[in-house]
Amino acid sequence: MICLTLSSPTIEGCLGEIERNREYIDMVELRADLLDESELENAKEFPSRSSFPAILTIRRTVDGGRYEKSEKDRRELFLSLLDGGFSYVDIESDVKRSDVEKKAKEMGVRIIRSYHDFEKVPDDIFSRIYRLKEHGDVAKVAVTPRSFQDVFTLFRIEEELKDVPKIVIGMGEFGIPTRILYKRVGSMLTFVSDGEVAPGQISPRLMKTLYRADKVDDRTAIYGVIGNPIGQTSSPKIHNLGFHAINFNAIYVPFLVDSIRQFFAFAEYVKMRGFSVTVPFKVDVLSYLGNISREVKQIGSCNTVVRVPGMWKGINTDYYGFIKPIEKDLDDGKIRNALVIGAGGASLAIVWALRNRGVKVTILNRTLSHAERVAKMNICQYDRIENASKYSGKVDLVVQTTSLGMSPNEGASPIPDFKFTGNEIAYDIIYKPKMTKFLQDAERAGSSLRFGSQMLLEQGKLQFMAFSGYYYPSWIDPEV
Ligand code: ATR
Repeated sequence: MICLTLSSPTIEGCLGEIERNREYIDMVELRADLLDESELENAKEFPSRSSFPAILTIRRTVDGGRYEKSEKDRRELFLSLLDGGFSYVDIESDVKRSDVEKKAKEMGVRIIRSYHDFEKVPDDIFSRIYRLKEHGDVAKVAVTPRSFQDVFTLFRIEEELKDVPKIVIGMGEFGIPTRILYKRVGSMLTFVSDGEVAPGQISPRLMKTLYRADKVDDRTAIYGVIGNPIGQTSSPKIHNLGFHAINFNAIYVPFLVDSIRQFFAFAEYVKMRGFSVTVPFKVDVLSYLGNISREVKQIGSCNTVVRVPGMWKGINTDYYGFIKPIEKDLDDGKIRNALVIGAGGASLAIVWALRNRGVKVTILNRTLSHAERVAKMNICQYDRIENASKYSGKVDLVVQTTSLGMSPNEGASPIPDFKFTGNEIAYDIIYKPKMTKFLQDAERAGSSLRFGSQMLLEQGKLQFMAFSGYYYPSWIDPEV
């Protein structure tokens, strides 16, 4: 079930939230602690007006809520609202047996016994869940993983406590996979919100239509992307839309990772079929792979890992993704000389790809020694970035691979003095924003443009094929 946590200060506002998200949710949680004082008397009518099963929660400040009055007042509020027809009531683990519990039982309202930890995942999480269940109908733990290992611990709960009705939530950015794969964690429901009520919550629309989290079953294949940070990735959009379009029973999840070793152990545990790899792990994954493609071997970096019998195999689709938007120009012999700006990880794959297609490359970089390193690996030229203008009119392609032009450096170009003639192709691998300062300068001169979003989509399509064995559906535009 997908449960919408309501955050409006008024009942009308809450009903509005429900209306906006009606098609994406199965259940709602009324947070009476977030309601204005004057609204509390209307709260009793809420369940009959909401048309969804409702959880009643009055969260104290110690548990991350806003209820500041005494425990006695809170108890009275619970008692006055319980008549309203709520399906569940959330009572925290440290609340002693009380008249609230008694009344809930009389009214047939099921009791969720909850435990919150905003700092960590407690060591005794398994036995804690067990104890919570002894004092209610459903055990709820909302805890905060601080590492990927903690996330892995939450995924092991189901194996240990299969028969315990429970709600398990990993809060914060590490916890996001536990929210999306809530069914694999053994959680009865996942919480979503219209705004962000708790750290890491995902919008109802994304949870239902992009991730289709409620459709995950025992046979759903799990794919994902690992990185650190991971917030900006567009890959879940590309792959989940693709899986959906071809009716492939699979889900693609973003994983914030701090230990590659732990992630590989997790991937084995949940029987992942493959995953994308982004910064900073494209080199670190190599030592876990039993088989690598020629590109990975030569470029020294891997952005795609797939399961093959008995081992993990690494391929590099960045290379293909980069080439695809200029492939025709290469085939037509229109690109003989190229300037590549930057000498980081992305530049490495790009320089290799261009050299592989017989293009003469000059690398320009702020730190000359970095440029020298990439140049030596690929047998090409390098120069100081300040000398960019000297190459004006002498190259067919200029590729921008640095982070300049992306937030927080929007509006900056690494080669502001370079004069585009209009005859060259300008290619920026940044995809947010689509139109960088570098591309604007090129467009003004009449140069032909290539966008980072094209590269991203093409590398994703090849990855999709490696993951699923099917072509990326041609009728889909994930608008990355
Ligand atoms: P990626 O793997 O995405 O290429 P990276 O390895 O951090 O990322 O590489 C960043 C590239 O952007 C490098 O070429 C870097 O130049 P240095 O080698 O001199 O560090 C370049 N870069 C980053 N910020 C820059 C800036 N403010 N001006 C010029 N170049 C910059």
